[in-house]
Amino acid sequence: MLSKRMQEVLNEQVKIEAQSSQVYLAMASWAEIQPGIDNITAFFYRHSDEERMHMMKLIHFINDRGGFAVIPALVQPTLTFPSIKHAFNELLNHEIHVSESINKLVDIALQEKDYATHNFLQWYVAEQVEEEALARTLNDKLEMIGDEKSGLYLFDRDILNVSVPGGEE
Ligand code: FEO
Repeated sequence: MLSKRMQEVLNEQVKIEAQSSQVYLAMASWAEIQPGIDNITAFFYRHSDEERMHMMKLIHFINDRGGFAVIPALVQPTLTFPSIKHAFNELLNHEIHVSESINKLVDIALQEKDYATHNFLQWYVAEQVEEEALARTLNDKLEMIGDEKSGLYLFDRDILNVSVPGGEE
């Protein structure tokens, strides 16, 4: 059974994952109307789906452990970006924020002596390491490319084969 505090903070994480899904969905929709970046567009859509899966996992966990998962209201995300680089930079910053939030949850699980939740959260801890690493790599590549159109062409081609971490449960 979840403590009241544990339930509250897990529900806050439901909201963060749902918001993440919206943030990346907005990036995908913006990217879709930019010319020639179909694979970047697909990447953002995949990432949005991935975040929804993170949210669903939490919802089921909360309800399975005798709590009640609350479906949250969301904030409208940023809709447009000055460049692709800006969008990927926001993605990295967003993931850093999510990692901080997961770390806080782990702390609270230990304080509450809730070892089942602590164990459940380890999946998210590992996931965040991979997501941050991927976001950093993509940002580094875009930094190298600068304003070169041919570089962006190759970036878009290569991202076709990049899978968003956490696809398998
Ligand atoms: Fe669910 Fe990208 O954190």
